[in-house]
Amino acid sequence: MSQLQKGILITFEGIDGSGKSTVAKAVVERLRNDYDVLLTTEPTSSWMGDIVRKAIASDVDSLAELFLFVADHAEHIARVIKPALDEGKIVISDRYSDSRYAYQGATLAGRFEDPIGWVKRIHAGWTIPPDLTFLLLVSPSVALSRCNTRQKTTKFEDIEFMKKVQANFLKLAGEEPARFVKIDAEKDLHVMEEEVMSKIQEYIRAKI
Ligand code: TYD
Repeated sequence: MSQLQKGILITFEGIDGSGKSTVAKAVVERLRNDYDVLLTTEPTSSWMGDIVRKAIASDVDSLAELFLFVADHAEHIARVIKPALDEGKIVISDRYSDSRYAYQGATLAGRFEDPIGWVKRIHAGWTIPPDLTFLLLVSPSVALSRCNTRQKTTKFEDIEFMKKVQANFLKLAGEEPARFVKIDAEKDLHVMEEEVMSKIQEYIRAKI
């Protein structure tokens, strides 16, 4: 088992129905052969994550909702992400801060002049930026049809909203091309898995 000096934080992002959770799980299984890997999610599986899920399911104010997501993120960093990175693990998070920038950047449009910048500034100075972010891109109509075939649904599964969120994700990727890796999520799962694995291996080789 290879131990990295300091861990690596890798995140998976994309609109609902992009398939990021499936790809993340498959990649984690493969990385586990060689590395100490931790798979985690946002919203988290803690009681704070439960509150976030309750908020999403209700008609909560968008700003209140943002702060619940941010509180969950702070707790996630303190209790899970930072300790695991300090132990040299590869930490894979299924959604992370870019979900806030993209989703709440959309829900808060109209309330702030630059909602993405405003949400980013709330994270400044304490969040841990990811080393690599895989952005799974799929057309919102394909994503929506995938969402409709599974039981779990959220209020964010609306085609016009999904278009805005995807545009926000693309804007974020454009601002940080070295961190973001765009993946065509309409491809076969195995093809995506190979692409992601080879990028991670390339990143690890460059880091060691
Ligand atoms: P998640 O459980 O990851 O849903 P899915 O598995 O369908 O991707 O996230 C729940 C919803 O919360 C999802 O619609 C995305 C949204 N979300 C935000 O709006 N902001 C955030 O910061 C995060 C982490 C998620």
